[in-house]
Amino acid sequence: MLMRFDRASIDTAIVTRQDDQLADGYFKKIAQSVRDNVFVLDKDRQILFANKSAENLFGEGLVGKNFVNVIRHPDCLAAIDGVLDGRPSEGRVIFLERGFRLMLQVNVTDLGKHNDDGARISIQLNDVSQVYEAEQMRTDFVANVSHELRSPLTAVSGFIETLLGPAKDDAEARSRFLNLMQQETARMVRLISDLLSLSKVEANQRIRPTENVDLVSVVRRVVKNLEQAASERGKKIRLDVGDTPQWTIGSEDELIQVFQNLVENSIKYSAAASEIDISICRLDRALQINGPAYQVTVKDKGEGIARHHIARLTERFYRVDNSRSRAMGGTGLGLAIVKHIVGRHRGRLQIESEEGTGSVFRVVLPVSNIGS
Ligand SMILES: Nc1ncnc2c1ncn2[C@@H]1O[C@H](COP(=O)(O)OP(=O)(O)OP(=O)(O)O)[C@@H](O)[C@H]1O
Ligand SMILES: [Mg+2]
Repeated sequence: MLMRFDRASIDTAIVTRQDDQLADGYFKKIAQSVRDNVFVLDKDRQILFANKSAENLFGEGLVGKNFVNVIRHPDCLAAIDGVLDGRPSEGRVIFLERGFRLMLQVNVTDLGKHNDDGARISIQLNDVSQVYEAEQMRTDFVANVSHELRSPLTAVSGFIETLLGPAKDDAEARSRFLNLMQQETARMVRLISDLLSLSKVEANQRIRPTENVDLVSVVRRVVKNLEQAASERGKKIRLDVGDTPQWTIGSEDELIQVFQNLVENSIKYSAAASEIDISICRLDRALQINGPAYQVTVKDKGEGIARHHIARLTERFYRVDNSRSRAMGGTGLGLAIVKHIVGRHRGRLQIESEEGTGSVFRVVLPVSNIGS
């Protein structure tokens, strides 16, 4: 069929070509600026384009290299082959080790033929490691809670069975079993109340507390509550906090929880008949805190904590010695709660420990200029 072009349609064709070039430029800029790693390859898997994110992750000078030399992952290469073989798109999830574990969602798309030069394909790598870690944490958390609840529940149901059966008429056994049942149910109540505390602090993580709190009186109250427990184990708490109030902005209840757990830990995990030292000092400047700060130090002498455990202590349910902590009634949530509360107060928690010597826990909190 014979086509007739009038002036208007020729103009339209010119404008369209200009628009295409314009759009091409825009698309390149957009591809450069997106957070995903974007590549364009030719039919031989040669890299024709790599955006900034890709260069940050895989190094500079990617254009011209063969993609196989950048990511040598069978699933990723299979997805590319799939598209080069004629499928419109392919998706995979791959793990890469680059000093740390990276989870990437790979999407390969056919961009069509370029002149006579063969196929062009795009590869988009989306870092989904955080989503994966969050999901992993959630699954671990549910497994941990179920496990922690199952042990006391199994114990209680065992006692009930014994009381209904063999120990039915044994008054002495009855009172012994009831005592054990009381301990187990107390453990479950403690676990639930710690979980509720944790979820409350987490829910309020972004809202900074607003009360003016005197750290000296907080620490004194905690020591008063725990003095007896310490002396029952032959331990002495030495306080070096002075009498002058030291004000911070916070929630009094939450700060009591922080020092209650730190001092309780020092009592539980230090050497027999040792001293626990608690002090407060003012710092003109502290790391990650704008302006002056108070540093509360809780120091104990004892077995200490091996280096490889330290970074994990604030994870939920993490305990150096599971059975010993459990035997002492611990749920392993104490330091997780401490970390969240300190974070909510825009403060810092520092842990130093040497195996065989002892541990030092420091809480650094911003100074409030309202109360002083
Ligand atoms: N001062 C310390 N000295 C030695 N080990 C410690 C000290 N503080 C904590 N730990 C170790 O860290 C683990 C986690 O402490 P965390 O306070 O979170 O849990 P817990 O004391 O076991 O239980 P909970 O605090 O919930 O009652 C403890 O089980 C213990 O192994
Ligand atoms: Mg504890």
